[in-house]
Amino acid sequence: MSGLLTVEGGAPLQGEITVRGAKNFVSKAMVASLLGEEPSELRNVPEIRDVEVVSDLLRLHGVTVERDPEAGVIALDPSNVESAHVADIDAYAGSSRIPILFCGPLLHRLGEAFIPDLGGCRIGDRPIDYHLDILRKFGAVVDKRVQGIHITAPRGLTGTKIHLPYPSVGATEQTLLTAVRASGLTELSNAAIEPEITDLIAVLQKMGAIISVDTDRTIRIEGVDRLTGFRHTALSDRIEAGSWASAALATRGDIFVRGASQQDMMTFLNTFRKVGGAFDVRDDGIRFWHPGGDLSSIVLETDVHPGFMTDWQQPLVVALTQATGLSIVHETVYENRFGFTDALRGMGATIQIYRECLGGLECRFGQRNFYHSAVVSGPTPLKAAEIEVPDLRGGFSHLIAALTAEGTSRVRGIDIINRGYENFMDKLEALGARVTAGERKVAAA
Ligand code: EPZ
Repeated sequence: MSGLLTVEGGAPLQGEITVRGAKNFVSKAMVASLLGEEPSELRNVPEIRDVEVVSDLLRLHGVTVERDPEAGVIALDPSNVESAHVADIDAYAGSSRIPILFCGPLLHRLGEAFIPDLGGCRIGDRPIDYHLDILRKFGAVVDKRVQGIHITAPRGLTGTKIHLPYPSVGATEQTLLTAVRASGLTELSNAAIEPEITDLIAVLQKMGAIISVDTDRTIRIEGVDRLTGFRHTALSDRIEAGSWASAALATRGDIFVRGASQQDMMTFLNTFRKVGGAFDVRDDGIRFWHPGGDLSSIVLETDVHPGFMTDWQQPLVVALTQATGLSIVHETVYENRFGFTDALRGMGATIQIYRECLGGLECRFGQRNFYHSAVVSGPTPLKAAEIEVPDLRGGFSHLIAALTAEGTSRVRGIDIINRGYENFMDKLEALGARVTAGERKVAAA
């Protein structure tokens, strides 16, 4: 697919699309398969770039990975796990943050792991200090080298007590994937409790792990000697569902998102309703639409689960440019997630960003010079523009903005959207969007 998309905006998105398994769960469940001594099968797997990257990384480590993309099934056989060549792993430097989660499983299976320079979206520094501290606490030896980080466990891995400075999703997953086969007990406090983590715990329990979760964000893990494989259907992607919901709102459209789950989206649904969006929860998905009239401005703060996800923020901000009055958005998860608003301003949106913690409590980024609060004044008609996609969620937001704007926009670098949005070109077509990728005319209104 071309990295350039020509978008003729100004028409509502209408129709039905399907959302499959969550990107931020599927990749972790695939890594978990490394811990088992028997094959595993994961269902409801989307066809996205991140799944390809993790499949390739697993293959480099001797795992047999068989994919049936249409059925959404992946079979993983870790019987012959082996060390990969550093140069081969290094070829994946910069493509994903998942390699850091290979550490615990590889240390258990092989006694060593190598981590290249990590990728992922540029939405802040995204350090890995929590991950390395956790691995050291389990008894691993971390050796930072020029090419990357080499980690060994000369005396094996032993359960430990860990308190996270912040309920980090990745650090919680790191602890789980390491503790399940460490000897003895592990207690993790201030853990993240996102639905994707609960689903990972379900997978690990199917494999034979013993894990309990308390209401106060404490997770206790009793290490076991061996784990089996698993068969599991991934929970659906609530970020993708929220993104299409925001697209329906911004374009005054009507989208049925088959596969969207109310349980995992309650906070989003409350906010969507406060802005003025309408939705109808059905057994097989959720219909989201703009009911006509004005949208309302809101005060919004992103937070860890059960708060409003940071990944929902960028698409929703586009819809807020169409709401009447001043909306205040305080981003408390990433220090640098408003870069995408530059392009929206270029399209006519009135958005100011501030260093102060606006509209809520002080967060970790207060008084530290991070532009992490935004004030959106609307409604402002958006006009077509030349746009360069900055990152995954920001990129999808730019796409929504281009679809909302009157006129023809050119959006460059859209390949990055494949990292997390399955078949998004086909879905745009199904929703009647007037878009052209490369030479291919997708649909005409
Ligand atoms: C996961 O990233 C997701 N990625 C992100 O989705 C999501 O935005 C994020 O969780 C929060 O929900 C994947 O699951 C692959 P964190 P993760 O550790 O685990 C700081 C998307 O668009 N931190 O919870 O990397 C960090 O800088 C992506 O799909 C440290 O300081 O996020 C951030 O401010 C983007 N040191 C905060 O914690 C560390 O060692 C939360 O990050 C680790 C994190």
